[in-house]
Order: sequence, then structure tokens, then C-alpha cells
Amino acid sequence: MKTQWNLQPFSLELGHLWDIRSGIRVEQDYQTKLAQAWDQFLHKSKTNQIGFFDWPLPEHSDQVEELKELAQKLRKGFQGAICMGIGGSYLGPMALQEILNPLPLEQDFQVQWISNADSAPIARAKKNIQSKKCLAVVISKSGGTTETLAAWFHLSPHFSKDSVVVITDPNHGELRRLSQREGWYALPVPPTVGGRFSVLTAVGLFPLALQGIAVSELIEGAKHMRDVLMGSPTLENPALWYAYSKFLWDKQGNSIQYLMPYDTRMKLLSDWYVQLWAESLGKKELDSGNSVGPNPVSALGTSDQHSLLQLFKEGPRKRIIGFLTAEDPESPQVGTPAFSSPDFEYLTHRTFSELNLLASQATEESLHLGEVPTYRFSLPRLSPFNLGAFIFFQETACALAGELYKVNAFDQPGVEETKKILKSKLTAKP
Ligand code: PA5
Repeated sequence: MKTQWNLQPFSLELGHLWDIRSGIRVEQDYQTKLAQAWDQFLHKSKTNQIGFFDWPLPEHSDQVEELKELAQKLRKGFQGAICMGIGGSYLGPMALQEILNPLPLEQDFQVQWISNADSAPIARAKKNIQSKKCLAVVISKSGGTTETLAAWFHLSPHFSKDSVVVITDPNHGELRRLSQREGWYALPVPPTVGGRFSVLTAVGLFPLALQGIAVSELIEGAKHMRDVLMGSPTLENPALWYAYSKFLWDKQGNSIQYLMPYDTRMKLLSDWYVQLWAESLGKKELDSGNSVGPNPVSALGTSDQHSLLQLFKEGPRKRIIGFLTAEDPESPQVGTPAFSSPDFEYLTHRTFSELNLLASQATEESLHLGEVPTYRFSLPRLSPFNLGAFIFFQETACALAGELYKVNAFDQPGVEETKKILKSKLTAKP
């Protein structure tokens, strides 16, 4: 059984989920189960039910070029953008923005997101619109999500038609209809790519391209990962083993599954992971109707070590902890302080990146002493290529987990029902 992969864009270490002390064993029929999950996944992919998996292929490159060209053109005429979206139409692009453009307000082209329709971000957007020439970028696959439409309705009087870009379903929904009538720029969200799987489509790529980020490299990374996964023998497929390990730990009662990055820039990436795994897998099982699904959670190292680690280590055994680290060649050294502190001399020659890596290793070692199961992703760099590969890997693993859990990973009936209830409340006479 394989538990370690060096995939170039990142390495994955699952060994501590499987070592003798940690207490799970493969099921007797695991080979059949893994092969079935992979075959069903491929079947769905071939029958156009898993759009994200084919998106990095060359046949879609025209759409990537088109959005890059539009972004390039608009960057010249504007100084910033107000981007509106929520859930899958926000988390992925914002997570990548945080990593690849961590200081957006210091750039020539500034981007502000409104992901929650409440007063503070709306007020900030109005200020931004007054101080610079801004685009409006409205992102909603369905074209009818209340929060996004509310923000857009409120701000729309500030924008002329040639300063509006909508990213939405190519044929359906209110935003598509409005874009046709009003003459706004419009980019498609591929119909077979669901919200939380859409970050590498126009949903994420356009706002990132506006910021001058090399979006083709994200796609290259995803394409590379697709080749790796398609080229792996089924029983050595890292996405399948990652999904299966987490699935088995959940079945064993360790349903709380953390992803803990050790770099502030990656905090939102772990929030994106939470949405992906929660909304895709927290479902009624298709055969039995039983409720299933893991409880993905995000935490940030090292700060959350100082709030959660005690619980992880000595609290009830309900968790697995995933570490996510990235090397950072630009990380400064702690350096010599302005005062004398000989007992802490050992700190001075370390970079912050080294400090965080060592802290993650110390935490992992300490958790092993407490027999808490862990796994680890290590990225050599936070580059677009590596991140594209990581995102694609997580999406594929999550879809494979959907096969193991026997749920439809691509719908979200609970969210849709809530949207309907909200609409009925909003349309009810006071
Ligand atoms: O993943 C999903 O499908 C959801 O999180 C949606 O992205 C979210 O509800 C927003 O929907 P829409 O993009 O249609 O506005």
C-alpha cells in the first residue's frame, strides 16, 4: 500500500493515517471499492457530469484566452474592480488572490470583494467607486443568488454598461438575461462545473487575470495534476488514497477533519477546502437516505496551536489533522533584536518560514505522541502552477470521496432549499 507521493507541485504524506498505532486498517474489499470509485468517477467524467475534470484540457483553452484578453483590455481602462459573489463564486478566487496578490491595495489595479451583503463592505465599495474608476464584476452561476443580486442592485447605479462584467451560466438565469438586455460583458461558467468546483474557470480566472496573475499557469498546474492522476495505477492513485483515508477515518468516528495551513496567506485556501468537502459530501446517501459526510474544518498554524492544540491532543479522539506548508524563499530572518536576549539567541538565524515549518513538525510529532492521526501536504512554492495542481487534486479527491460515500457530490439540495425559503420570506407581504 502506498502512502507517500512526491508529485512535484507538492508532496503528500498519508503514512500517519495508516501506521499501526493509529488504528485503521484497509477494508477487506478495498481493492474492489477503490477500483469501483475510480471507474464510476471516470464514467461520470466521460458522460459530461464532472466538468471541472476536463476543463484544463486544450479544447477549453479558447475560453481561457478569451477571458485573459478581456481582462487585459479592461485593466487598461480601469483602476480597480468591485467583485461580488458568494460561496463557490467567491471563496476560490479570493483564496487564490490572498496567496498570489496578498497586498491588493498596493497594486495599480485594486480589487475589493463583496461576499456578504451587509453595510460595511457596501460602504467600502462606495468609497472605492468614488476614489477610482472601477469595474463591477458580478459572479453567480445561477444568476439569482439573493446576496449577490442585492449587492449588485444597490451598486449598479454607479456603473455604466461598459464597466460591468457578469460571470454566469451561458444560457440561463437573471444575470444572463440582464447582460443580454443591458449589453454588459458576460463570461460563461461552464454548465457542467458546479460553484465550488469552478475556481479554475472564468469564476476565478477572470478576477485573478484582472490583477495581472498568470492564470494560464494555474491551468497548467491543473492539467499536470490531471495527467498524474490519469497516469497512476488505480491502487496507487494519491487522490483516491487521500479520499479513502479520510472516508475510513470518518467511518471510524473521526469525522472532524482539519486542514491547517502554516501561512496566513493560505487560511482562505483551507476555508475553500472546507466548503468543497462540506457542501459536496454532507448529504443523504443515495441508496439508503442515511445522512453521511465528514465535518471539514480549517485552522491556521501556528496561531491556532495556541487555542486548539490542547483539545486536539488530549480531547476526545474525533479528529484527523492535515498540515499544509509551503516553502517561502522570500521569508525574512528573525534577525538580531535591538536588545540582548542570549537565551533566545537560537531564534535569530531562523527565517519565519523555517520557524513555521518546524512548528508544524513539532505539532505533528506531539500529536503522534497523543496518537492523533495526521497527514501532510508540502508545497515547494506558492506558485500558480503548484496551486492549480493542489486545487485540482482536492477537487478530484472530493469527487472520488463522493463515490465512496455514495452521494451526489455535485448538488447542494440543502443550500437550494434555504435559498427558496429566503426568497419566500423576501416576497411575503409584511
Ligand atoms: O458550490 C455551490 O454551488 C454554492 O456554494 C454556490 O456557489 C453559492 O450558493 C452561490 O451560488 P451562485 O454562484 O449561483 O450565486
